[in-house]
Amino acid sequence: MSDDDGPRLDPDIERYYDIEWEEDDRLRNGLGQLELVRTQELVRRHLPPGSHRILDVGGGGGVHAEWLVEDGHAVHLVDPVPRHVEQAMARLGGQERFSGAVGDARKLDAEDGSFDAVFLFGPLYHLIEPADRAATWDEATRVCRPGGMIFAAAISRFASLISGLASGAMWMPDFREIVYRDLADGQHRNALGRDYFTTAFFHHPDELRREAETAGIDVVDVFGVEGVAGAMPHLERDWEDAERRAEIIEAARAIETEPSLLGVGPHILLVGTVHRE
Ligand SMILES: C[S@@+](CC[C@H](N)C(=O)[O-])C[C@H]1O[C@@H](n2cnc3c(N)ncnc32)[C@H](O)[C@@H]1O
Repeated sequence: MSDDDGPRLDPDIERYYDIEWEEDDRLRNGLGQLELVRTQELVRRHLPPGSHRILDVGGGGGVHAEWLVEDGHAVHLVDPVPRHVEQAMARLGGQERFSGAVGDARKLDAEDGSFDAVFLFGPLYHLIEPADRAATWDEATRVCRPGGMIFAAAISRFASLISGLASGAMWMPDFREIVYRDLADGQHRNALGRDYFTTAFFHHPDELRREAETAGIDVVDVFGVEGVAGAMPHLERDWEDAERRAEIIEAARAIETEPSLLGVGPHILLVGTVHRE
């Protein structure tokens, strides 16, 4: 963010999304498609019927805003990377029920209780300080109306270990160093370049729940999003086959709340509600 009065984005994260990485392409391949389909099903399962005012914080180029608008909701997207907001505007700017602005999860420019649901699909990945994550949860609950819903995604503490073994990156000593730090304290730092993500915090599933509860959110449940599919040797190919695709999705669904496997896939999704007054 360039505003003098708002929180600053870490320069490594800004450079990553601005120059090194095309976030808009991320959900197009097999594992990304699985993340998208499972996120859609978990959100649709929990959002009450009707049209809702949704705040999509860290919404990137609007990948979720797009289907939420198609589902009949009104979506306001905020993201600290201006390029992401421009992409979202290019994608959805003509839609009456969509708006977007540059903004930061830690200090939202929105009235108290002005949304029916708040999505945090990204900010918690990149806020490495507990105080910044606490501010994010507090802001989400502030701008959500009492009884409204919070959907929050985190990256699993075990993501780099499992993807590193599946991809063979683990055979690189520099990558192993990153992985063992991730496992030790969740603090992901990458000096290896674009394929291994940027400055981030990887949550233990229990930690995600604890953070939400500390902010006073009533946790409905915590879900594993992709299940074990990220470790499949031929996921991209099998995803193209309709029957196999259905099985891959069912396999993720089958273990989605199994406590011992919540962190086995790359993403964990918390569904909660804001206390009624
Ligand atoms: C991995 S992308 C996810 C984008 C999209 N929400 C999705 O689920 O595909 C993470 C997003 O979080 C955004 N982000 C990073 N730090 C943030 C912060 N402090 N406040 C809000 N969003 C942030 C990034 O700019 C990026 O768009």
